[in-house]
Amino acid sequence: MLLRRIKCLRYLGTRFNSSHYVTTPIFYVNAAPHIGHLYSAVIADAHCRYQRLRYPEQHVRLCTGTDEHGTKIQQAASLHGIPVAKYCDDISQRYREVFRSAGIQPEDFIRTTEDRHKRAVASFWRRLHTRGHIYSAAYSGWYCVSDETFLTDSQLRLDEASGTRYSLESGHPVEWTEETNYMFRLSQFQDDVRHWVKQEARIRPAKFEKILLDTLSEPLPDVSVSRPSNRVHWAIPVPDDDSQTVYVWLDALVNYLSSVGYPDEEFSAHWPPAQQVIGKDILKFHGIYWPAFLLAADLEPPRQLYVHSHWTVDGQKMSKSKHNVVDPVQAARQYTMEGLRYFLLREGVAHSDGNYSHVKAQRILNSELADTLGNLLSRASAKSLNPGQIYPSASAEHLADLLRSLDAAKRLQDSLLQLSERCASHYECNHFHLVADTAMATLHAANNFFESSKPWTLKAGAPDGNQARLETIIAMTMDALRLSGIVLQPIIPQLANRLLDKLSVPTAQRGWHYLAESFATTPTSSTGLGESRQLDGQTSALLFQRILEETAVGGEKEQKPQPAKRSKSKKKERRETMS
Ligand code: MSP
Repeated sequence: MLLRRIKCLRYLGTRFNSSHYVTTPIFYVNAAPHIGHLYSAVIADAHCRYQRLRYPEQHVRLCTGTDEHGTKIQQAASLHGIPVAKYCDDISQRYREVFRSAGIQPEDFIRTTEDRHKRAVASFWRRLHTRGHIYSAAYSGWYCVSDETFLTDSQLRLDEASGTRYSLESGHPVEWTEETNYMFRLSQFQDDVRHWVKQEARIRPAKFEKILLDTLSEPLPDVSVSRPSNRVHWAIPVPDDDSQTVYVWLDALVNYLSSVGYPDEEFSAHWPPAQQVIGKDILKFHGIYWPAFLLAADLEPPRQLYVHSHWTVDGQKMSKSKHNVVDPVQAARQYTMEGLRYFLLREGVAHSDGNYSHVKAQRILNSELADTLGNLLSRASAKSLNPGQIYPSASAEHLADLLRSLDAAKRLQDSLLQLSERCASHYECNHFHLVADTAMATLHAANNFFESSKPWTLKAGAPDGNQARLETIIAMTMDALRLSGIVLQPIIPQLANRLLDKLSVPTAQRGWHYLAESFATTPTSSTGLGESRQLDGQTSALLFQRILEETAVGGEKEQKPQPAKRSKSKKKERRETMS
C-alpha cells in the first residue's frame, strides 16, 4: 500500500515537474560529423530555445553526446591504426566543436565511455535481469555491423552474384553469427508498446507512427542484448558475467537516463523526456526497443519521439563511397554556421527527405538573410536616411495617417498582429520551415511598406514636418525587424542577437511576450518600446554578407563578389506539412 502511494507520488512528481528534457541521438564516433548529424542536433536545439523563450518558468534541459562502443567503432579505430580510446576522444571532440560553433548549447554532453554511464548501464541491466526480463540462449542470425543490429531473413536482400546479403533498409552488408547471448523478452511487451505508440502526439510526424504500428502488427521476436566479449570487447561488460558485453543499442539508449543521474533518485526530476529527436533510420530502436526496455524497468517511456527524415546530396544518399558527404565545417566556410543552420531548418521538413545543394543554399541565404532581412536593416539604419542613428518612436498622428492611407502599412500591421500566434503554433510542432516562412512574409511586408512609403523623399533638407513622418516610417520598419528578430532567435540565435543588439533591444525585452509590443498593437501611441533610442554603434548593420557566386575556372573555384540586391516581395511557395 505504502509502496503504491510512493510510486504514485513519484509518478505525479515526474508528470508535473517543470523540467522539459530534450535529447538528440548520441552520435557514433566511427567518422566525423556531417550535416545529417548536425541536423538532428539543430532541431533539438531550436526546439529548446523556443521552449525557453516561450515558457521562461520551465527548466529546459538539452542532452547530446557520442556513442562510442561496439564493433563498428572497434573496426574504425583499427582501420586508422589508432588506439580505440584515443580515436573516440578525437571524434567526440570534433562533435563538441561543430555543435559549439553551430550555437548548440546542451546542458550535458554525454559519452558512453564515461564511468557515470557505465554505472547507469550496469544498474539498468540488473534491474531488467532481477525483474525476469533477460534470459540466456543460443542465438544465431544475420548481424549488420554498420547498423549494429540483428536482422531477419525478410529484412534482407541477397545479391546473387556475390552471395552477400544486405539490409533492405540501410543497404549495408550483414554477416552470419552464431553465439550464446542474453535475450530480452521483447515479445512480452508488444501490446504495451503498441498502446504507448498510439497515444495522442506520441510519434511525430504521424507517418512514423504508422510505420511503427505496421511493425507492431507482426509478432515481435525477443532481441539479443549481449555479445560475447571475445567478439565485441570494446563495450560495457555484462554485470556478473565477464564473458559477455552489453549490446551497443541497449548501452546507447541508456545514455538518456545516465545524463540525468540515473540510478540516483535525482534522475526522476527530469524523467520522462519531453521530446526525443531522432532520425528515421533509428526509429525501430527508439519506437520499439526503448519503450519496451523502459516499461520492463518500470520507468515511464518518453512523452514524444520527434522523427526527422534524411538529407540527400544532389538527389543521392550521402555516403563515403560516393564522396558526397557534406562536412559542416567546410559548408560553414561558404555560408557561415548561422547560414547553414538557417538553411537546414528552413529547407528541411521532417516527413520527407531534403535535398542539399549548393545552388539552393546560396539562393535561399542570399534572398532571405542577405536581401530580405539584412538589406532592410541596412536601409533603415543608413546614415543618409537616419543620420542620428536612432530607433525612433513613431508619431501617433503620422502612424494613424500611414495606416489609413497606405495599403502596405496596413498589410504590415496585419502581418505583425498574426506573427506571434502563427509562429508559436509552428514552433509547437517543430515546423521551423513555416516559422521562417512566416517571418520572411512579415519582412517582405516590411520591405514593401518601406518602398511604398518612400522615406528617401522625406529626408533631411526637405520641408518641415517631414521629420516626424520619416521617423515614423523608420520606427515601423524597425518594429518589424525587431519582432522578426525575436521570433527567429531559436533558428538563427547569433544573427538574431546581432540584429537585436543593433536595434538596442535590451536582453530582458527579447522574450516571446514582447511580440505584443509594437506599433501594430498600439497604433495610436508611439512604438511598442516607447522612447526613441540610439542604435548600437558597436554592431555592424551588415547582418549577412551575400554569398559569392562560384564559377569553375580551369577546374578551380573562383569567387565573384555580388552586389546586395533589393528584396523582392515575391510570394514564396508554401509547402504542405503533415503533422
Ligand atoms: N549512435 C546511434 C544513435 C544512438 S541514440 C541512443 C546513431 N548514430 S549516427 O551517428 O549514425 O546517427 C545519429 C543521427 O544522425 C541519427 O538521428 C541519424 O538519423 C542522423 N543522420 C545520419 N545521417 C543522416 C542524414 N543523411 N540526414 C539526416 N540525418 C541523418 O544512429
